[in-house]
Amino acid sequence: MGNQNGLFIVLEGIDGSGKSTQARRLKATLDRLGRKSLLLHEPGGTPLGEKINSLVKHSTHIDIGHVAETLLFAAARAQLIEEVIQPALLNGTTIVCDRFTPSTEAYQGYGRSVPEELVKVATRYVVGALVPDIVIWLDVEVETGLARKQGPHLFGVADRFEDEESSFHNRVRNGYIRMGKERHDLWFRVDGAKPVDEVEANVWRIVQERLSKVN
Ligand code: TMP
Repeated sequence: MGNQNGLFIVLEGIDGSGKSTQARRLKATLDRLGRKSLLLHEPGGTPLGEKINSLVKHSTHIDIGHVAETLLFAAARAQLIEEVIQPALLNGTTIVCDRFTPSTEAYQGYGRSVPEELVKVATRYVVGALVPDIVIWLDVEVETGLARKQGPHLFGVADRFEDEESSFHNRVRNGYIRMGKERHDLWFRVDGAKPVDEVEANVWRIVQERLSKVN
């Protein structure tokens, strides 16, 4: 199903791929053009989602197993779709979403090896007929991504994911590579190792082309 009114744009990639910077820049460009848009980040964007975000990323004193982790991301997503994404798309808002279902496939599916049926709950059941119009995947080598993440952190330490071994991040990246090969129609790979302005221009070219088809 196309999202008849607003466009649903998803940015994906491993930690340190530069998605969040590019999502902000894309939103700023849409604002400059006077296009109604909303910048979202998963997990988050609702009061429940923000609680889940701090729980799954920063709780060091609470054990979270892989099944529970997958279900927490699913819960945050379900709430975000119901509370924010669906209503916004229906009123013609273009959504720039920093992470969506491919993150669960990459991190929980490929990274944590959780069973496929469970990944499907978080990626298919929860989203129903909602599919992104485009997924822009910022691809960087794991070493590049992790090196970028070695700056100061919100809580003074790396989060639960950044703290994982590089073998975990390699499985996640391989997941993105697999998805990129399987989904040519929807997926656009952008080299995230290029200078930030160049990445921005490449992202914008893709979005502009897609926008020209709906306008
Ligand atoms: P970020 O704020 O840097 O994007 O961090 C979100 C973290 O959560 C990131 O390491 C990826 C992880 N994540 C999952 O493991 N599964 C998911 O479904 C989502 C949305 C994020």
